Amino acid sequence: MTKIIVLNGPNLNLLGTREPGVYGAETLDEIMQHLSQAASRFSVTVETFQSNHEGDLIDKIHQVAQEGFMGIIINPAGLTHTSVALRDALASVALPTVEVHLSNIHAREEFRHKSLIAPVSLGQICGFGSIGYELALNVLIARENKGKSET
Ligand code: DQA
Repeated sequence: MTKIIVLNGPNLNLLGTREPGVYGAETLDEIMQHLSQAASRFSVTVETFQSNHEGDLIDKIHQVAQEGFMGIIINPAGLTHTSVALRDALASVALPTVEVHLSNIHAREEFRHKSLIAPVSLGQICGFGSIGYELALNVLIARENKGKSET
């Protein structure tokens, strides 16, 4: 069974109540459940992990690289804009990674415009709310089906 890890960074555990005008009303559990359902239609298993701690996210990246996961979907949240260590972890394991943001970070404060994660990702999806996770899933599956040749 193909496995994908979905990593969510700091404060995303508060989705549903956290700035709903920016991030929507769905909880992280609801978003992850919809994603798992979508993945199961492709016979893909989604494992999810949320942490408010940079080191825990890094440890998880190291772990999944040893466990045969096909790819990573990551919403690094605030760490997107600051974390060299998270970026280095992704670069170290070289698993195909798609960066996701619920909000359009390029339409927000200037400090959100820069991502340290995007250069070590296949690409970045932002501004489409929770649909972004499903788009990322589709990218990883399509890429796998095409024999990793085109992305
Ligand atoms: C976010 C955007 C980040 O700038 C912010 O720090 C978050 C959430 C998003 O999903 O839109 O925590 O990653």
